[in-house]
Order: sequence, then structure tokens, then C-alpha cells
Amino acid sequence: MKIAIGSDHAAFALKEIVKKHLIDSGHQVEDMGTNSPERTDYPIYGEKVARAVVSGRVKYGVVICGTGAGISISANKIHGVRCVLASEPYTAVLSRQHNDANMLAMGARVVGEGLACMIVDQFLAAEFEGGRHADRVAMITKLDDNRESHDPILYQEP
Ligand code: RB5
Repeated sequence: MKIAIGSDHAAFALKEIVKKHLIDSGHQVEDMGTNSPERTDYPIYGEKVARAVVSGRVKYGVVICGTGAGISISANKIHGVRCVLASEPYTAVLSRQHNDANMLAMGARVVGEGLACMIVDQFLAAEFEGGRHADRVAMITKLDDNRESHDPILYQEP
């Protein structure tokens, strides 16, 4: 599977570990940086990985910063991205099954390396279930497609 990965400085070490784990598992990994522990800014890597995902060049994106919060918020600003922040496998799996998440975010200051690799593995192995969940994902897409609107998209004011 083709996967893009990116992190800021706070998560550089964990990103290298997760990257190696994915390569050892047979995945093709596109490393979008950062390439050292030197201070940098997480939105850059959230955007880079997100663009690789929505372009279709890779199937999924994995992004890591200190908490996973900033980089997931950044990725979710890119049209077409559904990035979930997960610190345990349950959320990661359900985000694939129910939300058709296409990006996974984690916090290097939150999860250890063993847990991070397990979360990624289970995220990649899980399948979107479709059905009623597809209807809800379509609603998310509608919000995404109408980001500029100041009017309600999914409900009507009384
Ligand atoms: C960097 O210190 C830190 O703010 C960043 O890695 C991340 O946790 C932001 O959400």
C-alpha cells in the first residue's frame, strides 16, 4: 500500500520508527519530512501529507506531532481530507469503518512506539463499512464542499 508520512520536530524520532515499521511490513512509504529534530512548524507537514492523499498519489496519510492535535487540525483544512487523531486502536479502526478516514494523526508525546505501530497497523487493515455510514460521510463531504458558506448546510434554522 502507498502511504505518505510526515511529522514536525517533536515527532521526528517516532516518525522514523513508524516509517521503518511500515516499510518492513511491505508498504511503499513517501516520507514528506521533517528530516531532523530541528524546530519546524507542524502545519507544513500536515498540508504536505494531505495534498499527497487528496491527489490520489498515496492511499493514506500518517501525520505525527507532539500531541497530534495541530497536525490533524492542519490536515483537515485540506479539501477531501478526513484525518482522525487516535491514541488507541479502537478509534483508529472505527474511523476507517465508520468515517472512511483517509489520514491518521498521532501524538509522539502521547503514545509510545509500540502503541503507535499497532494503531497504524489496525488503521490500515480496517475497511470502510459503507451503508448508513456512507450517508454520513456524504454529509461531511457536503460541509467540506461548502466551507465558504456562512449559512447552515445540513440543517435549517427554525
Ligand atoms: C511543538 O512543540 C508542538 O506544539 C507540536 O508538536 C504539536 O503538539 C502541536 O499540536
